[in-house]
Amino acid sequence: MHRYPLAKGTVVIRGGAVLTPAGLVDADVVIVDGLVTAVESNVTAPEGATVLDAEGCITGPGFVDLHTHLREPGKEQAETIASGARAAALGGYTAVVAMPNTSPCLDSAFVVRAVLDLGATTTTEVAVAGAITVGRAGEQLAPIAELAALGVQLFTDDGTGVQHGGVARRALDYCTGLGVTYAEHCEDLAIASGGVVHEGAWSAKLGLPGQPASAEEAMVARDLLLAGELGARIHLLHLSTVGSVELVRAAKAKGIAVTAEAAPHHFTLTDAEIASYDARFKVNPPLRPDEHVAAIIEGLCDGTIDAIATDHAPHTPETKDLPFDEAPPGMLGLETAFSLAYERLVEAAGMRVERLFDLLSTNPARIAELDAAGARPYGHTAHGARVAPGIPANLVVVDPSARWTVAGTALASLATNTPYEGRSMHGSVRHTILRGEPVVISGEAQR
Ligand code: DOR
Repeated sequence: MHRYPLAKGTVVIRGGAVLTPAGLVDADVVIVDGLVTAVESNVTAPEGATVLDAEGCITGPGFVDLHTHLREPGKEQAETIASGARAAALGGYTAVVAMPNTSPCLDSAFVVRAVLDLGATTTTEVAVAGAITVGRAGEQLAPIAELAALGVQLFTDDGTGVQHGGVARRALDYCTGLGVTYAEHCEDLAIASGGVVHEGAWSAKLGLPGQPASAEEAMVARDLLLAGELGARIHLLHLSTVGSVELVRAAKAKGIAVTAEAAPHHFTLTDAEIASYDARFKVNPPLRPDEHVAAIIEGLCDGTIDAIATDHAPHTPETKDLPFDEAPPGMLGLETAFSLAYERLVEAAGMRVERLFDLLSTNPARIAELDAAGARPYGHTAHGARVAPGIPANLVVVDPSARWTVAGTALASLATNTPYEGRSMHGSVRHTILRGEPVVISGEAQR
C-alpha cells in the first residue's frame, strides 16, 4: 500500500555540512524522485532542479517526535492533524507519533484508521500511538492486537498512565507477545493527589497544590520491575526527575530493555516560572527545580535518556486563560524544540551535534519503528538515517547561527500556548524535505 508516495523531481541542497554515516562532511545533497542519490561537493544542479541554500547550515535526518498531541478527533479548535503537521514540518519533523488521548480516544481500529488517513497527505508523516486500555480508563485492555495489525507500534494511556499494576503487567506481557512497545506516562495519581505543580518551595509559597517527584518515580520503578521480570520492552514518556533518571540508568545497566524520552520544557524551564500564576507554565509532569533540570540534561548527554520528545500539547486560549489550578496542563513544543535543544544542549552543555540528531531523529525513529529496520506502520517511509545515497529524502536543514523571537500567534499551530513567548532563540529550521518534497523552504511552509 503506497500511502506515502515519493515526490517526483530533483532537489539540490547546496552548501553547509551534512550529517553522513561517517559524521559531518561539507557537501551538497542531491535528491531525485524522493531518494537521496548523492552526497558530494560542488554538484552542478541539473536544469529544472529546485536548489535549496544551506550555506552555514547542517543537513541531517528529519526529526521524529514520539509525543505529539494532534487533538483530532475531538478538539479541532486547539489543533487539527493538518495544522499540527504543518507545525511539525516547520519544526523540522518529518514524522510524528500522535498521542491517543483524543475524543474519542485511539482505542479502536476505526478511529486509528481515520487518523492515519487524515495524516496520509499532510506535511509530516503521522504515525499513531494506540491506547492501552479501553477509553484510557485503565481497566480493560484495548484491542491491542487489532491495532498492531494496522501497524500501530506504540501503546500508551498517556495523560494519566496505567494506575493498576496488574493491568499494566498484563498489557506489558501482551505487547511483548505482539512485538509492540508499551509506553508509560509515569504518574501515580494516588501519590500525585491532585497536585498541579511540583511539590516544593514554590508550591508552598504560591499556595498551589503540589505533586511530589515520587508520584512519577514510583511508577517508573514499578514499570522497570515489571519489564525486567517479563523481559518486556518499555518506553517511558516525558521523564522529569532526578530519581527517574537514576532508576532508568540503573535499569539499563542491568540490561532491562527500557528507552526513555524527555521534553524540552523539562530541560529549559524550572518551577520558578509558576510564580507568574500563568497557566502557560502548567504541564504534566510539572516543571521542576534546578536539580531535576540538571539531571535531565545529564541523562540526555550520557545516553540514559534516548530521545527528545516535544509533548506538543495545544490548548485553546479559553481553557489556558482559566485560573492555574483549573487550566489544562500542556504547552506547545513542535516549533521550538530544535532551537531549545540546540541552545541548551549543544551551546550550553557542549553536546555534539551528532548526538543531538540521535536524540531528535535516529533514536525516536528506532523506538517508533519508523526507521529502515522497523515495521514502519501503514506504509510510512524510513526516517532517522544519516544522509547517504539510497535513503528516502526525509531531511531537515538547520541553521545554528539564526536568531528568532517566539510569538505564539506566529506559530503554525492553531493554539498559542507557548511558554517561550517573547523569548529570543538560537538556531532555527531552514528547510524540511519530506519524501523529496521541500515542505518548508527558508522557514516558510509551502502548503
Ligand atoms: O501536560 C500534558 N498535557 N501532559 C500530558 O500528559 C497530557 C497533555 C495533554 O494532552 O494536554
